[in-house]
Amino acid sequence: MIFVLTGAGLSAESGLGTFRDAGGIWSRYDLEDVATPQGYARDPVRVLDFYNARRANAAGARPNAAHGALARLEREAGAMLVTQNVDGLLEAAGAADVLHMHGRLDRALCNRCRRSWEAPEVMCPFDACPNCGAQAVRPDVVWFGEMPYGLDEIEAGLARAALFVAVGTSGTVYPAAGFVDAARDAGVATLELNLERTGGRFDDARYGPASEVVPAWVDEVLGPPRT
Ligand code: OAD
Repeated sequence: MIFVLTGAGLSAESGLGTFRDAGGIWSRYDLEDVATPQGYARDPVRVLDFYNARRANAAGARPNAAHGALARLEREAGAMLVTQNVDGLLEAAGAADVLHMHGRLDRALCNRCRRSWEAPEVMCPFDACPNCGAQAVRPDVVWFGEMPYGLDEIEAGLARAALFVAVGTSGTVYPAAGFVDAARDAGVATLELNLERTGGRFDDARYGPASEVVPAWVDEVLGPPRT
């Protein structure tokens, strides 16, 4: 089984910004303000506004060739797709089962009872939770200091994998940044597909824009797509 971990670089060519490249999201916003429970407690309106803007961006974005190639890899080779991205572009490209370890922009979460539901286009602090009525809504995204989703499933996936592939991620945010070493320690082959070399210890790598490098690699694995 091929285990694929994706990051913001996968969606960069779809017009969604990355975090740590020059001009990236964390050069324009302080992550302590908009991506921590403490930031939300201090100023929920600022946090909801930040994610409302990102939700609007994501809603207008279209998947690129890399999303399409990974959806094909899932369909034809049973690859496991795990993403740190909160957009739905892999699903928009046809992927059936994507594990969103950092949550999703199109889901809302009650900060009191933890029920989640489909997010409205614009979330506001006076929205009431449909389950408990609390005015404590937030996006269902994982913030710094919170536990990512699906870690048990991910661990099981890494244990079954024959190949671990990281696509468009800088490998700076844990636990995802540690997956490559966990895979290597388990004797799994590792491959990096990224615009540029990162600090991760991979057995093999291809560098270039995801929309070129990913489809080319998937064609090597599966053969060219049937038309
Ligand atoms: P980063 O912004 O840290 O890294 C993006 C990576 O994509 C970099 O290594 C870029 O070189 C690469 N890249 C940029 N454009 C590319 C392209 N067109 N094709 C291929 N690669 C490209 O984003 P992530 O690693 O996803 O978490 O960041 C991980 C987490 O940090 C995010 O999920 C988010 C963020 O803070 C939370 O908010 C909890």
